[in-house]
This record gives sequence, structure tokens and C-alpha cells, in this order.
Amino acid sequence: MKLLLIGSGGREHALAWKFAQSKKVEKIFVAPGNGGTAIENKCENVNITDIDELVKFAQNENVDLTVVGPEDPLTKGIVNKFKKEGLKIFGPAENGAKLEGSKSFSKEFMKKYGVKTAQYETFTNVDEALKYLEICEYPTVVKADGLAAGKGVAICANKQEAEEAVKSYMVEDIFNGAGQTIVIEEFLEGVEASILSITDGKTIIPFISGKDHKQIFDGGKGPNTGGMGVLAPNPYVTEAVMKEFEENIMAKTLNGIKEEGFDYKGIIFFGIMITKKGTYLLEYNVRMGDPETQSVLYLMESDLVEVIEAALREELDKIEIKWKDGVCINVVLASNGYPGNFTKGYEIKIDEKVKDKVFLAGAKFENGILKTNGGRVLSVIGLGKDTEEARKDAYNNIKYVQFEGAYCRTDIGTHM
Ligand code: AMP
Ligand code: GLY
Repeated sequence: MKLLLIGSGGREHALAWKFAQSKKVEKIFVAPGNGGTAIENKCENVNITDIDELVKFAQNENVDLTVVGPEDPLTKGIVNKFKKEGLKIFGPAENGAKLEGSKSFSKEFMKKYGVKTAQYETFTNVDEALKYLEICEYPTVVKADGLAAGKGVAICANKQEAEEAVKSYMVEDIFNGAGQTIVIEEFLEGVEASILSITDGKTIIPFISGKDHKQIFDGGKGPNTGGMGVLAPNPYVTEAVMKEFEENIMAKTLNGIKEEGFDYKGIIFFGIMITKKGTYLLEYNVRMGDPETQSVLYLMESDLVEVIEAALREELDKIEIKWKDGVCINVVLASNGYPGNFTKGYEIKIDEKVKDKVFLAGAKFENGILKTNGGRVLSVIGLGKDTEEARKDAYNNIKYVQFEGAYCRTDIGTHM
């Protein structure tokens, strides 16, 4: 098979690496890819991001299957366009992708189908939103409706903070339209878990759970990032939590997908909050997480291409996904200054003493030299029979990966 994989992050390097292990796969084009996919087995980067150009490329190269990494092309209807041309593609069509593309849409969906989630109100008028802040409880959570590159959520300790958030979204328009509609939501206290899963619209199979570490500093301090490292499985996802998740969140979501008639053969990623009052759904993502994918796929025993093909045939009920024993951790190495301003273009040195995989993200080759090219530069993997062993392995490996200003959290996997 010839595959086309769309995206350029660490998630896509992990996907490409996993696909390359499939006996069925002969070639993987990655559009646009990064420094990791540039040299990964069976891979070739192609510098295309425009959806119509991608359609043409898939036709010209006789691509057998296209897999979409990030949410942006999915919410823009890439799946509809490929299918219209008779091209095989894995991911939700535009209607299902709205579960990530619009917070008000996804909250309405959750309410309609009884998915357990935080109480909320939606606003399109700034005066009404400000009036609501007079009566709501604090802390409260203000969310931009549209895609805001992971920055559209403000946890506000008091009314003043909430007013600032509302005004910056709705009046100053800091998210270029994505914050013109907002959701104001009940604050939930607990621990988070990422449950990536695959669906064919009839069945959902959850993957091994992950624990992301969203803030930039140790102990969960400082501003939010895209994710600084992931522990899988997530130790807080006990059997009891999983049962609650399956009953109150997963089954109800599947029912909603069926009732709405979404054309959904793709990934659905549940961001959940485990609280004293039970397990709640915070959000849906319609793609794999980054850096969840790096840890979760590292533990996947099954051939991911076969799993995806089963989903496209609507036969997920006939398969079982196999997992490796043990624990996987990935620790992100970021550019100095991320998630704020940072400088790019530093040489990255990876010593051969690194025992496990290094997945590259914001990294690219320039005249044959691997250089930093983004905030989250790469992820270093650690494996073990338990968390402690995996942590030791990851932090040992990281000693052998260097670039100027490289920063990582030192507490990934310590259950913070
Ligand atoms: P989201 O994009 O909805 O996942 O929000 C980003 C992050 O904000 C989540 O990973 C949580 O850490 C936090 N968050 C979102 N909604 C809530 C909530 N209702 N209560 C507490 N924290 C939240
Ligand atoms: N790491 C969180 C996400 O991919 O949304």
C-alpha cells in the first residue's frame, strides 16, 4: 500500500513510524512532514498543505489510503473532498469534526445525548455574557467556541479575571473570530486523562489511556502548552473509572454519532476529568493527541493499518487491539521560551546512546543538519515494567539529546 499521512508534528512522526512497521505498507508520503518523517523508514516528505493539491497528489500517486493527523483539515472538510473523488481516507467528515471545531456545538451534542459534562451556557452577545458573570460561581471557565490552537480556555478565579477573558475574546477578538461565540462552564476539580479511541460509527474501541502534562513547569505550574509529556497507561484510570467512562460518556457519544448520522470513521479522543463527583467529559478531539500518540502507539502491538482498514470496512466489532505490557513515557524537549517567544534554528544532536525512540516534532533538516524549528522540538521515549523504570529510562535517554536552550519538565510520570 501507498499511504499519505497529513501533518507535521510529533504525532505524525509517531504515526509514520508505526505505519512503517506494517508489512502491508510499501511507501508513506508525509505532507508536509518534519525532520523525523524525512528520514523515517519508508517515508518521504512532500511539501503540500492545500487540500485540493492533496487530492491531486493522492490521485497522481495512486495513494491507497490517506490518514489525517491534525484537526484543522478535518474541520475544513478534507474527508468530504477526498471521498467525493473516490479516494480512501481515514477521519471524520466535516459534520462529525465539528465536535472539536466548535465548543458550543459539542456541548450541545453532549447535553442532547446525556453525556456527563460540566454545566454551561453559550453566549454570542458580550453584554449578556458579562451579566452572567454577576451570578455564576467561581472559579469559572471561559472558552472560545472555535479552534484557538489550544489557547482558547481561561480558568478564571474571580469575576475580574472572567471579565477580562470575555472582553479579550469577544471585543478585542484575540482569536480572530474563534472567540465571537463563547462557552462559560462550571469549573471541575480533579485529575485529567486522555482516552484516544477509534470508531467506525458503529463501535468505539478505546486505546490505552494517557496522562498528559499540560503546563510548562514542574508541578503543573505556569501557562498551558500543547503538552509536555505523557505517561501511558494513566494510573488514575482505574477499572471503575473506565466503567463510568464507558457507560456515561463513550456509549452515549456513540449513540449521538449514530442518531446525528455523522459519517465518522476516525479517531475520537475524549479529554476526561476524574473528580470526586464522578468522571466528566471535558472535550472531544477528532484526532489523536500530541504527545499522547507517541506513548500510546509505542505500546500498541497490533498493526495500526489493519485496525484502520477494519474501521473503514465498519468491522471494528470483529477485531481486538493488542497492547504491550508495561509503561511508556515520553518527555518533550522544548525550545527555551516556549510557550511564549522562542528562537529557532539550533542544531539538534542525538547520540546513539539513546536506547529508545526519539520522535521529532518542531525539527527540520537544513543542508543535511537537523535543526530546531518549533516550540515543542521532540519527544524522548522511556519504557519500563512500571512508571519508575519508564521514568528512569526516559530521563536517561534525554541526557543524550541536545540543542541550545533545550527545556523539559523533570516530573513527567510522577502523577502530578
Ligand atoms: P479543553 O480545550 O476544553 O480541553 O480545555 C483545555 C484545558 O483546560 C483542559 O485540559 C483542562 O485542563 C482545562 N479545563 C477545561 N474545561 C475545564 C473545566 N470545566 N474545569 C476545569 N478545567 C477545565
Ligand atoms: N495533548 C493534548 C492534545 O493533543 O490535545
